[in-house]
Amino acid sequence: MTSPTPPSPSSSVTPKRRLFVTTALPYANGAFHIGHMMEYIQADIWVRLQRMLGHEVHFVCADDAHGAPIMIAAGKAGKTPQQFVADIAAGRAAYLDGFLIRFDNWHSTDAPENHQLAQDIYRALRKAGLIYERSIEQFYDPVKGMFLPDRYIKGHCPKCDSADQYGDSCEVCGAVYGPTELRKPYSVLSGATPELRSSEHYFFQLSSPRCAEFLRDWTQGNGPHGAPRLQPEVLNKVREWFTVDEAGRGGLADWDISRDAPYFGIEVPDAAGKYFYVWLDAPIGYLASLKNHFDKGQAAAHWHEASRTSQSFDEFVADPAVEQVHFIGKDIVYFHTLFWPATLQFSGRKTPSQINVHGHVTVGGEKMSKSRGTGISPLRYLELKLNPEWLRYYLAAKLSARVDDLDFGADDFVARVNSDLIGKYVNIASRASRFIAQYFDGRLDYVGATDEMVQAASALADDVRMALDAREYSRALREAMAYADRINAAFDAAQPWVLAKDESRRAELQDACSRALAGFRTLSVLLAPILPATASRVARELFGMPRDFLWSDAAELPRRVAPYQHLMQRVDPKRLEQLLQAPAEPARPAAAPAAAAKAAPELASAPIGIDEFSRVELRIARIHDAQAVEGSTKLLRLSLDLDERDEQGHPRLRNVFSGIASAYDPAALVGKLTVVVANLAPRKMKFGISEGMVLAASADDSPGIFLLSPDSGARPGMRVS
Ligand code: 2FM
Ligand code: ZN
Repeated sequence: MTSPTPPSPSSSVTPKRRLFVTTALPYANGAFHIGHMMEYIQADIWVRLQRMLGHEVHFVCADDAHGAPIMIAAGKAGKTPQQFVADIAAGRAAYLDGFLIRFDNWHSTDAPENHQLAQDIYRALRKAGLIYERSIEQFYDPVKGMFLPDRYIKGHCPKCDSADQYGDSCEVCGAVYGPTELRKPYSVLSGATPELRSSEHYFFQLSSPRCAEFLRDWTQGNGPHGAPRLQPEVLNKVREWFTVDEAGRGGLADWDISRDAPYFGIEVPDAAGKYFYVWLDAPIGYLASLKNHFDKGQAAAHWHEASRTSQSFDEFVADPAVEQVHFIGKDIVYFHTLFWPATLQFSGRKTPSQINVHGHVTVGGEKMSKSRGTGISPLRYLELKLNPEWLRYYLAAKLSARVDDLDFGADDFVARVNSDLIGKYVNIASRASRFIAQYFDGRLDYVGATDEMVQAASALADDVRMALDAREYSRALREAMAYADRINAAFDAAQPWVLAKDESRRAELQDACSRALAGFRTLSVLLAPILPATASRVARELFGMPRDFLWSDAAELPRRVAPYQHLMQRVDPKRLEQLLQAPAEPARPAAAPAAAAKAAPELASAPIGIDEFSRVELRIARIHDAQAVEGSTKLLRLSLDLDERDEQGHPRLRNVFSGIASAYDPAALVGKLTVVVANLAPRKMKFGISEGMVLAASADDSPGIFLLSPDSGARPGMRVS
């Protein structure tokens, strides 16, 4: 995680920018999914561009450690929340290094810097008169001795009476309500009937006229670099939140920023037993990570003597020229465009310059759930030895500055990588450098004027720079590939393979190859933010440079090239299929391989005889134990009693992995009866052997996973037929 010695910013472009860049802080209760990687890659490309331009960048992130879900998950895993979060954090580097994502610092919202900053900011808000106390009524679990967040209360939907619905909305009829409206409510944690209890909570007065006035201005304004803080579609959404209708409904509501003990979080000063709601301290974690980076002395070490400052964290964040740029997903816009700037403004701090919002990743058109992710596991991608730069290129080719969702399609991926990246760009080097090595001992030379070529390269570099800076990555790549097309067309028109046969035409051959390689070098500079590893090899191995490319190298003509080293392979579609068809963590319910799940609709339409059906041994099982699976957000490990015995006659339990973690709290499953495919061949999964499959219902077009359970009277081991 270190930067090369930065250049002076290319003065023809802009004065040196001072940038503080972040991605959203991921909850420390699960592995990264493809959506996380997309956001990190989007930000990393932008940051690499700024570094190549010579700007000062501090790019940080952290684990979002606090909140009830993490506290509860840690308890179930038999760990302290601190240990639980540390274990998750230890797994982060594999993803970040694997996909060439280079943060300057990775920290935690539970770190001392964040405790200090959050409490300081709260005190400042209190001093500004924006904090008040109010008693609220909430469900309390008398067995667990804690107030229950909405998602830990279930019951019958007040509208359609469906059982087992969450405390905020019904997955069957779509109704939205408060947890106290549920009928027959129960605590997901203990099964107990929750009691309504009142408690004092702290509120941030977002509804105050000064907040509303400030936010109206802020959301419509520009950052120090002149770019609007919000994208137009984000601004439209934010305007809706400001709007008060004729009946006086709508507008900004005050924000409940405290939670009662037990809670894993930061203590509210002067309020025993009260903690900050996780969303109060999470964005402050951006500052905490930056402070930690500065305090470690790394911030200055990234800059050469001329630009090295002895600035402290406090001086840096107060500098009006510093741009604070956040990359986030569209689901957390409210927090970042209202709460976060207001928190900063009224605690006397600088506010963000730009909130860059992206859409979600879908796979084959299917929506991804935040907790379940998609069938694409980033680690499995790496295990299958798929090149991380393919994914970076593919995502870049589909990303724009809009908030649109991005669909990952296998055929599309293969086409973009094989036809564009390899076919148009990489191949230029392999085709042209062969002749230079064979006939010219690596020397490049140009016949006639080169001004036009240099000007074209320089104009292209400007266009691509502007497109990348505006996060219009797909436009940048379209321009780069059009340039590659022109280079290939000129090379083909020169017919170097014909020239090579005629000794009298050596100069022409050298010129055609040199121009192609100069174009290849230009493209390598422009693609470097997206393909940092390949660009580094091109700079060092092919063009013999002692350093990586800077943006200002784009229009320089190379004079030598080393013999071609293989740069990049084509994607084998079969390997991509492996990624999509047999994810380490199935995206659909039950422990069936995704391939089988995919084939289901076809099988359903082909009739089978009773003999065939009776080969499937379905049996009743009692869920003896259910546990979350560390490293998986989708799977639960079930220990099932089918009334079986081992060879010594001792009772035997089966281990079955089931992709129902998003729908069921493990504790609530213990003791339940369900139906199991008992004669399914044992299947080795990433987390162990699965000895069967529990049956669950789900539909592609509506959320929810529903475990099958028999009518009362059924016993473990009974055959289902
Ligand atoms: O939605 C999420 O995943 C949050 N953990 C994002 C927090 S971003 C920032 F505010 F810390
Ligand atoms: Zn309902």
